Amino acid sequence: MSALSEEQSLQIRPIKEHIGAEVTGVDLTQPVDKATRQALNDAVIDNVALVIRDQHFTPAQFAVAAELFGELMPDQIKSNLVEGLPMVSILSNFEKDSMGNQAKVPKNATWHTDHTNKERPPNYTFLYAVEIPEKGGGTSVVNMNAAYEALPAATRAKIDTMKTANVKISSSRLKSANRDVLAEQIALGEPPVIHPLVRTHPERGTKAIWFHTGKTENIEGMDPTETQEFLGNLLKESAKPEFAYTHEWKLGDLLIVDNRSALHKAGSDYDMSQHRKLYRTMVRGDRPY
Ligand SMILES: [Fe+2]
Repeated sequence: MSALSEEQSLQIRPIKEHIGAEVTGVDLTQPVDKATRQALNDAVIDNVALVIRDQHFTPAQFAVAAELFGELMPDQIKSNLVEGLPMVSILSNFEKDSMGNQAKVPKNATWHTDHTNKERPPNYTFLYAVEIPEKGGGTSVVNMNAAYEALPAATRAKIDTMKTANVKISSSRLKSANRDVLAEQIALGEPPVIHPLVRTHPERGTKAIWFHTGKTENIEGMDPTETQEFLGNLLKESAKPEFAYTHEWKLGDLLIVDNRSALHKAGSDYDMSQHRKLYRTMVRGDRPY
């Protein structure tokens, strides 16, 4: 038998009409040719969420795989990085805060996109499952381009010009905030970063509703309370189940999200005595417009 017949070939299958594709037949610990790299890049953008199955990564290999999609950027939460790998962080429900207590996992995780308090938020977020609970704890992703396109024209026209002011922790979630992050925010005194509520995809020209519920201090012209109410209603109207996909983790799964046309959230519907541990890294992006 030739070596060729043992090789699996790359397969990309759509998961749902509006979002998600599953990839098999590729091992990202091995060199990846240009055509495969391009196919994976296109698949992330076209499907918004891409699941690459059966990967066996060390944290360093995970970072190298993510670099196929661009330059990595640091996580602003420094408390839970993989030792020796400043670009790879650990998401864990067993994480300890600065007081040594088990950090709280929010019961109602909110739709968001990562690091909107940065001028150049990440193009892509990568998650890799290291330990997973028996059931639940899935990661949900919603195609906010499809959600935007399905809105009435008058609503689209109204939100098209809105701008959000983004901080690390908005006043709406001061009570539930991670104390370490809050202390850092106060110490740094960073001014809010202004972003469009509807952003344009730089590679496709499409538009998507784009914000972080917990980092949006306010929409310009609204106060923080009005803002949260407005965003909550906008989500109800736009982020419909048909545009969303919940990834129920299997060990070895790599999930890649195109943040420019998606919001995501982590499920907290699992037994918290079981460990849910993912590696996360991000690829640097451009200034949203
Ligand atoms: Fe996130």
